[in-house]
Amino acid sequence: MARLDPHSYNDSAQPETRFVEWRAHVDFTSRTIAAEATLHLSEGGGPLDLDTRDLHIDTVVDGTGSALKWELFPAEPILGSRLRIAVPADQVTITIGYRTSPEASALQWLDPEQTSGGRLPFLFSQCQAIHARSVLPLQDTPRIRICFTAEMTVPVALRALMAAAFVSREEKGDVAVERYEMKQSIPPYLFAFAVGDLESRELGPRSRVWAEPSVVEKAAWEFTDVDAMITACEGLYGTYEWERFDILTMPSSFPYGGMENPRLTFLTPTLLAGDRSLVNVLAHELAHSWTGNLVSNASADHFWLNEGFTVYAERRIFEKLAGKELAELHAALGRKSLDEAVREFADRPELTRLHTQLVGVDPDDAYSQVPYEKGYLFLRRLEEAVGREAFDPFMRRYIGTFPFRSITTDDFRVFLREALPQAYERVDVEEWLQGTGLPADSPVAESKRLDTLRALGDQVPPPEVAREWIPTEWQLYLESLPQAWSAEKCAELDGLYHLSASANYEILVGWLVVTLGADYSPAFGRLEDVLGSVGRMKFLKPLYRAMARNAKTRPMADDFFARFQGRYHPIARQVVGALLEKCEVVAH
Ligand code: BES
Ligand code: ZN
Repeated sequence: MARLDPHSYNDSAQPETRFVEWRAHVDFTSRTIAAEATLHLSEGGGPLDLDTRDLHIDTVVDGTGSALKWELFPAEPILGSRLRIAVPADQVTITIGYRTSPEASALQWLDPEQTSGGRLPFLFSQCQAIHARSVLPLQDTPRIRICFTAEMTVPVALRALMAAAFVSREEKGDVAVERYEMKQSIPPYLFAFAVGDLESRELGPRSRVWAEPSVVEKAAWEFTDVDAMITACEGLYGTYEWERFDILTMPSSFPYGGMENPRLTFLTPTLLAGDRSLVNVLAHELAHSWTGNLVSNASADHFWLNEGFTVYAERRIFEKLAGKELAELHAALGRKSLDEAVREFADRPELTRLHTQLVGVDPDDAYSQVPYEKGYLFLRRLEEAVGREAFDPFMRRYIGTFPFRSITTDDFRVFLREALPQAYERVDVEEWLQGTGLPADSPVAESKRLDTLRALGDQVPPPEVAREWIPTEWQLYLESLPQAWSAEKCAELDGLYHLSASANYEILVGWLVVTLGADYSPAFGRLEDVLGSVGRMKFLKPLYRAMARNAKTRPMADDFFARFQGRYHPIARQVVGALLEKCEVVAH
């Protein structure tokens, strides 16, 4: 009789879904998916509350084909509509026939012009945190893990890829039917697919990369180190449990840097810098195969268990592959983004807790670097308290204790006290988990290169210094410049280093934010290109925010958003729209 997840209608007294069979017809003309979902339940009987959003329900039948009573409740703003089904006591399967909406919040339907090939359409899903319910009716809470089989019918010119094991492809006239299965249980937010003109290249014994044909070679070059990363992560956390680790390079409107969909990580093409400088995102998504996908947060309130652990592992992998000095630069960048996030939440300090209380709050609005970077600092603090000799075995025990389970912050706390009592004694765990802002004992990144950068401050770096910089140092430099730098200095920096032409999106966006603060208009053409072609929220948010804050550029923000929002994924459209609405103009 309890709603244990604030973002689901699931009632803990009701049967649980164990297995889903999904049969879907993808129609690019109407931008809808017509589907059937068969849910196999742990037991029969009683009302069953499912999560849905914008689904059109046609039929609900039991395992014998008899129609069942059902009711679709009015939509609530964050949760969507409760679908209540009366399940007979002797029935453990139900089949729901339904259609998705063209506005489904998980789905982006791309016209051919929005792909790199320009010839064929593309469709992809992004279900985390609570968007799976706009694709299929289910108990959309990570507390309830499911296995599934899926059958997708798509135009024959396209491939349907799923984050699952491939079974078969059958071509029938102008359509193809692609079948997949997932034998390992997953939280519903990891349900994922993409349909498009896709090709692959082998990267290693358990990995290949998929992308549109014009992108696939570049992607294969950029992500070539994936096997070394898998091995490094196995050293840290134990055996890789998902058999394959394939990568899908997404269209540029993909709203995240990466998404850890099991067996098929989705990555933004903005990582393709041509120098492998941004592959920490790949290491991050890989590390989720343990922290997030094996051991999952039980609800968005425990999101730090997914992301904090994963950032920690990401930096350990990076340290192994690139050395401590460079890993520390990443930690320093992380700290900058954390300080910024804490500042942004000045009026909502409760969102700076690791363990949050998101009743009535949309997880997409609460999203920030806090669970990532404060979670990372907490784990690093625990590591420093006991040393790696004790901390590394603790991490392996943690994974080994909760595989294929969804856990809460309290489960972690109890486990920590039992398995690593010295750390529990030396660190104020309650303060870290429940407190707001940053604890006084937060570890600080140290490195020689950081000292040099700190000494430079906001001066324009001389060529003999900047010549040695790797992209991460450029990022750190740009992010440490004052919000209102001078247009003259921008001109000097651009003249020397041509930052507007950078092929590295992290540098480019860092630079564009600086130019907005300084009203340096020669860069605004490039800004328009970026906002019109890239949908990654990590870039959209600071750019729109910087424009909207400055009275001179506020109209430009509204104009760009009006023109480009149709190109963004529904999640990005919603998040940027909300940001523009609440952003206050500060006089310059
Ligand atoms: N799982 C997240 C992306 C996500 C989080 C999607 C919450 C929806 C809701 C993914 O693993 C992630 O953290 N991506 C980061 C990568 C970075 C931390 C290296 C991103 O997209 O910026
Ligand atoms: Zn992550």
